[in-house]
Amino acid sequence: MESKRCKIKDSECHLKRIQDWHNSFESGISSLIETLKGLEDSSIEARKECSEHYARTIELTRAKTRFTFEVSHELKAPLASVYNIINVILDGYLDGDIEKQKGLLDRARVRIKSITELLNDLLMLSRLEERTKELEKEEFNIGEVFSSLIEEMNEYAEKSNIKINWNLSDNYPHIYGNAELIRRVFANIIHNAIKYSNPRGLVEVTGEKENGSFLLRVKDHGIGIKEEELPKIFNIFFRGENARPNRKKEGMGLGLSLVKRIVDAHGGYINVKSQLHKGTTAEVRFPEFQKKEK
Ligand SMILES: Nc1ncnc2c1ncn2[C@@H]1O[C@H](COP(=O)(O)OP(=O)(O)OP(=O)(O)O)[C@@H](O)[C@H]1O
Ligand SMILES: [Mg+2]
Repeated sequence: MESKRCKIKDSECHLKRIQDWHNSFESGISSLIETLKGLEDSSIEARKECSEHYARTIELTRAKTRFTFEVSHELKAPLASVYNIINVILDGYLDGDIEKQKGLLDRARVRIKSITELLNDLLMLSRLEERTKELEKEEFNIGEVFSSLIEEMNEYAEKSNIKINWNLSDNYPHIYGNAELIRRVFANIIHNAIKYSNPRGLVEVTGEKENGSFLLRVKDHGIGIKEEELPKIFNIFFRGENARPNRKKEGMGLGLSLVKRIVDAHGGYINVKSQLHKGTTAEVRFPEFQKKEK
């Protein structure tokens, strides 16, 4: 802005200077308003981000509390039962009857086994979730998983009065992964199909190479899953209404949450379709091992 002085009586010059001041003041104010507006926008953005973080923290805290509650609940009953068994024996209620004592100790052993299994599953879940330790993986033929699995599942099916039709192609691909965990995935899915079948039901298991992956399809004609429950089946401790204790289907709602995390850790895919009272089909895929080009 020009800063020349005006002669005292030169009103035009004074007017011009006032006009200039006014203009520069106005442009200063509008740039200040722009800056303030920018600040307001970023503070609205920051406030929005902050409240999203807050909502997420609340949600995670609730999930943690629910998780602690569920685990304590699952551990409480078997631990109380073992405690009572020890008391009955130590307080001499069985008058030294060795056979009765053995029977009770056997029951305690079963309870402790189920507690250990629960803790192992929970440890595995947190290991898979945190990914603190990379899984031990190697290249293996997926057919190896089936030899012992078929026997174990047939035995369980027979006890439950269910028939399994195995339809496995003998052209098994190689997979890069943890064979023990992949076996667990297949075992959990087939186990569910047997458990949630109606007596004398049929479970169909198909396994084949398809589009660069190994696809296992397990179909049952059992109790099915309610449509609104389907999105929740991979949640930890979720059990469908049909499966809850009064329906006498044993379980803790951990199987599929483990399955999903193992599948994800292998770059695989799982999809479950179901119709209530008609049956369920689970499909799981693991990518075929790709040899690196030299
Ligand atoms: N094949 C199936 N048919 C009907 N319902 C199923 C089937 N598979 C899973 N579900 C439903 O999904 C729920 C979650 O399954 P998941 O395997 O995680 O737990 P679970 O079988 O109840 O217990 P766990 O596997 O820990 O012994 C089940 O409780 C059941 O309601
Ligand atoms: Mg299960």
